[in-house]
Amino acid sequence: MSGSEVTHTAFPTRVVRHPEADVPPELRAQALRLQEQAWPSEPGEAGDPSHDPALAPYSLLLVDGAGTVLAALDVLSKEIGHAGEGWRVAGLSRVVTDRTRQRAGHGRTLVAAALAEIRADGADLGIFTCDRPLRGFYTSAGWRELPGSVLVGGTPEAPFPSDQWDKVTMAAFLTPRARAAAPRFTGARIGLYPGDVDRLW
Ligand SMILES: CC(C)(COP(=O)(O)OP(=O)(O)OC[C@H]1O[C@@H](n2cnc3c(N)ncnc32)[C@H](O)[C@@H]1OP(=O)(O)O)[C@@H](O)C(=O)NCCC(=O)NCCS
Repeated sequence: MSGSEVTHTAFPTRVVRHPEADVPPELRAQALRLQEQAWPSEPGEAGDPSHDPALAPYSLLLVDGAGTVLAALDVLSKEIGHAGEGWRVAGLSRVVTDRTRQRAGHGRTLVAAALAEIRADGADLGIFTCDRPLRGFYTSAGWRELPGSVLVGGTPEAPFPSDQWDKVTMAAFLTPRARAAAPRFTGARIGLYPGDVDRLW
């Protein structure tokens, strides 16, 4: 799949979408710089940490008219089993706004655009975890908290649950079947099991 421009925002900013492996180098470098601001890598750590290709990672970037990346995030997808059924799920990873451009609505714009993309891709639900103080940020962009829910990352053999930290689970139920099943995802331990590369999203 090649990259695409999706106009969730008015000129002069635009949202661009590319599979992680196909992000144009100049945009990729900017997105990595923003990630480095937020999560400085340790000495010797890879400066370009890629996601597990099995999770079909793509990047969404909010770019201004000068080609500057204002905010970035990645979307990861997989199928899970929960409450006796299979579900196509997608979640957000590495959501970041340039430190010098925060509190201007860029993050909200991009996170709302991601929700629209996940819906358009046909996922049953979007689901991910975030630090508790950011609950309001994601809620303002169309996501909702799943009270008491825990995402279990890692693998079934080596689980990596979100309740080892003070995290909250955010979700969006996107298909009629998922909407009907929402109570079964609430207050539940949800086996996400994205593997050993992206242990939790
Ligand atoms: C979280 C982050 C992406 C928000 O980006 P942003 O562009 O500044 O967010 P917005 O301007 O769209 O904020 C929209 C609303 O969300 C809330 N919000 C934004 N940042 C927040 C924060 N750090 N803590 C709590 N609430 C926040 C506010 O209500 C804000 O509205 P207001 O400015 O009118 O009060 C940015 O702070 C960031 O890059 N942080 C470091 C990386 C990070 O923690 N990413 C999240 C990983 S789960």
